Amino acid sequence: MERSSLPDVELVVRTMAETIVANEAYFSQLDAVVADGDFGYSLARGFSEVLAGFDQFDRSSPSTFLKKVALVISSKVGGASGPLWGTAFLRAAAACDKKQTLAPEDVIAMLRAAAGGIQQRGGAVLGDKTLLDALIPATDALQDSLQAADSDVAAIQRAAEEARRAAEATSAMIAKKGRAAYTGERSIGSVDAGAVAIAVIAEAVSAAWRGHHQAAKEPA
Ligand SMILES: Nc1ncnc2c1ncn2[C@@H]1O[C@H](COP(=O)(O)OP(=O)(O)OP(=O)(O)O)[C@@H](O)[C@H]1O
Ligand SMILES: [Mg+2]
Repeated sequence: MERSSLPDVELVVRTMAETIVANEAYFSQLDAVVADGDFGYSLARGFSEVLAGFDQFDRSSPSTFLKKVALVISSKVGGASGPLWGTAFLRAAAACDKKQTLAPEDVIAMLRAAAGGIQQRGGAVLGDKTLLDALIPATDALQDSLQAADSDVAAIQRAAEEARRAAEATSAMIAKKGRAAYTGERSIGSVDAGAVAIAVIAEAVSAAWRGHHQAAKEPA
């Protein structure tokens, strides 16, 4: 993977935000199966504010940009997701502080910091049937693929495939965190909304990355 810079970070954040807004109803439907059905609404309200303010955010570095995104998410995303996603962005920002360009190891460190922040904030561990059950395996796959010297396009696709597989696998788990936990064993048989959101976002980022970077390299 080549070094990434602010335009790559912007591409990822914009793709995330557009995907979340486009999937508002779908994500809420998934949450409604075992919880209160506000997940898509909460996320979409916050990320539509990210899109609205996008062009005005401080762009002195990837870290300052991500900090601003974190602030908007923390203040505008409601429910349990606001503090979790806000913390994830804030930790990712801190992990690349003072860097203008990001090496593959920096990207992995940012994703690990984001997952660590979510764990600290929400107290969930792997297997509790939350978005971490897709985010952590996808990060592992990205790291493995990058270490195997795959192209960045291939590595991100691999991570998205793993996020999808892992999200589907949450169907067999019992929810231990969030509102879904109140349903106990009745949560078995349906996928976790947050984990599916991670898969949908990862697939969209993979497609956007391929469109941007592969197209640029192909001979005319
Ligand atoms: N403590 C937690 N740690 C990590 N992820 C969590 C936690 N609680 C919920 N989630 C994730 O957030 C998703 C639901 O988000 P949402 O904001 O709707 O929270 P909720 O649990 O339904 O509670 P509320 O609706 O009261 O905010 C779940 O599908 C799960 O992936
Ligand atoms: Mg909810």
